[in-house]
Amino acid sequence: MSFFGKKKNKVSKITPDLLPKHIGIIMDGNGRWAKKRGLPRSAGHTAGAKTFRKITRYCSDIGIKYLTVYAFSTENWRRPSDEVAALMKLFKSYLEEALSDFKDDSIVVRFIGDKSGFDDNLRQLMTENEQSSKNRNGMVLNIAMNYGSRDEIVRAVKSICSKAEKGEIKISEIDDNTISEHLYTAGQPDPDLIIRPSGEYRISNFLLWQSAYTEFVIMDKLWPDFQTSDLDEALNIYSNRNRRYGGI
Ligand code: FPP
Repeated sequence: MSFFGKKKNKVSKITPDLLPKHIGIIMDGNGRWAKKRGLPRSAGHTAGAKTFRKITRYCSDIGIKYLTVYAFSTENWRRPSDEVAALMKLFKSYLEEALSDFKDDSIVVRFIGDKSGFDDNLRQLMTENEQSSKNRNGMVLNIAMNYGSRDEIVRAVKSICSKAEKGEIKISEIDDNTISEHLYTAGQPDPDLIIRPSGEYRISNFLLWQSAYTEFVIMDKLWPDFQTSDLDEALNIYSNRNRRYGGI
């Protein structure tokens, strides 16, 4: 049994060339799920983490190449301190478990966001997970933690300006690709599909640059209730979209 559950070699009903290469998920609705049950918000996050595990395994099984999940934004620090503390505890326990169990998996784990916001122990766990999985050949899982897309773009701009100042980059040669290559997702394809459960129509500072031509699917289910059949439904909606990238 691996960290993400039993391997079942699932096959998507969508033909491989209509499957998105890269899926982003805004894991929203944990708080409302808990409230509906009279539970503390932290119970919603615990349930949401189980869904994260299940959906990640499923994406890997059906042949998705990149999955980016939004776990904690640069703005989430504004939440009550007990909720933030519960989330940090949850991240730690997952990353500790991942370290011992990820071995059986081919998933490459990456963290996107500003790691310096976390304590030493969590930062160490993030680095160890990245190091121990980097030579695997399966799906790349980006876990966005202390991630904000505006922050990411500001960092990219600063880094490009600093290279220009040193004469390493010519300003006249800066293009779209230069920006992409200075983001946390450098070298990865842009997301084809972003799924937001819980019925909110917002991007919430997630992959702003990368989602220029992404297809969005908003679903009514709260994240802890999200099933593999809901992912199938999103994939089905996506496979029927006509992507034109500004053309006709
Ligand atoms: C948003 O729902 C969810 C979060 C801020 C936390 C998401 C974290 C997880 C699902 C845990 C993942 C675990 C790992 C190890 C990556 P919300 O709290 O804003 O819900 P609400 O809108 O209903 O209040």
